[in-house]
Amino acid sequence: MELCEGGDLVQRILDKGNYTERDAAAIIRSVLQVVAYAHDMGVVHRDIKPDNILLKVESDVTSLQLADWGFGTFVTPGEQLHRLCGTSYYMPPEMIDGKYDERADVWSCGVMLYVLLAGQPPFYAVCDDAVMRKVKNDGIPNLTCNPWPFISDDAKEAVMRMMTYDPAHRPSAREMLNHPWIREDGVAYDNVIQPEVLQRLRGFAAMTEFRRHASLVSACGGGGEGEGHHGEACLCVSARPARVARAGTSCR
Ligand SMILES: Nc1ncnc2c1ncn2[C@@H]1O[C@H](COP(=O)(O)OP(=O)(O)OP(=O)(O)O)[C@@H](O)[C@H]1O
Ligand SMILES: [Mg+2]
Repeated sequence: MELCEGGDLVQRILDKGNYTERDAAAIIRSVLQVVAYAHDMGVVHRDIKPDNILLKVESDVTSLQLADWGFGTFVTPGEQLHRLCGTSYYMPPEMIDGKYDERADVWSCGVMLYVLLAGQPPFYAVCDDAVMRKVKNDGIPNLTCNPWPFISDDAKEAVMRMMTYDPAHRPSAREMLNHPWIREDGVAYDNVIQPEVLQRLRGFAAMTEFRRHASLVSACGGGGEGEGHHGEACLCVSARPARVARAGTSCR
């Protein structure tokens, strides 16, 4: 991967101080283009989130690179993956159930779009297990509270499509590239995202940064907080949701 001198996406959005639905659509389109290409190659990323989107050029928020392929793996058509990995806010329900394929990335793109438009994740709690319970049990993002009344129906529909609970009915990344709000010269317009969203995004980014320093996520042999929750491995969670992975590198 080439050097990205532009820093991370969220920081640039915050530095810029304003952005529009059209900007958000361009961002998610660029991410989906990379994801669709990876899926065509039989590769799944498994940790798509704003923190892993870096900019090649600081002045251009669309010069994106999808970074951090540490959880990336190959998947063949029809194959099911089992490893719980990534970051709890962005995990799809089927991954929490332990059986998923490349459509997991599409869900994560949907969560990422939700964060870009609302400034906070759709399922929020202070620890990973609670976030995952919400994803499993609630499953449907709330698009009625602020700022959603100010966001276009087409943008909401794009979020809902990517966050289709049942992966069998969830569109592929390539199909999403044809969505009216996402496609180039589509219906996304220059309606400015509310300043409160940027404030929330700032808070969420700060919390994520804190978590990066404070979290203690490790696999352990037994007796820990998450033992038995996901089979043979114990998931030790931090005070804040973080990147998680089951013990055992051989498990996919
Ligand atoms: N190609 C790159 N160009 C410039 N900076 C990079 C590049 N790749 C990674 N970085 C920097 O390193 C940071 C961490 O990278 P990465 O996400 O790959 O690792 P990580 O193990 O997930 O760490 P973290 O948990 O902090 O995200 C990025 O946020 C970015 O600041
Ligand atoms: Mg990362």
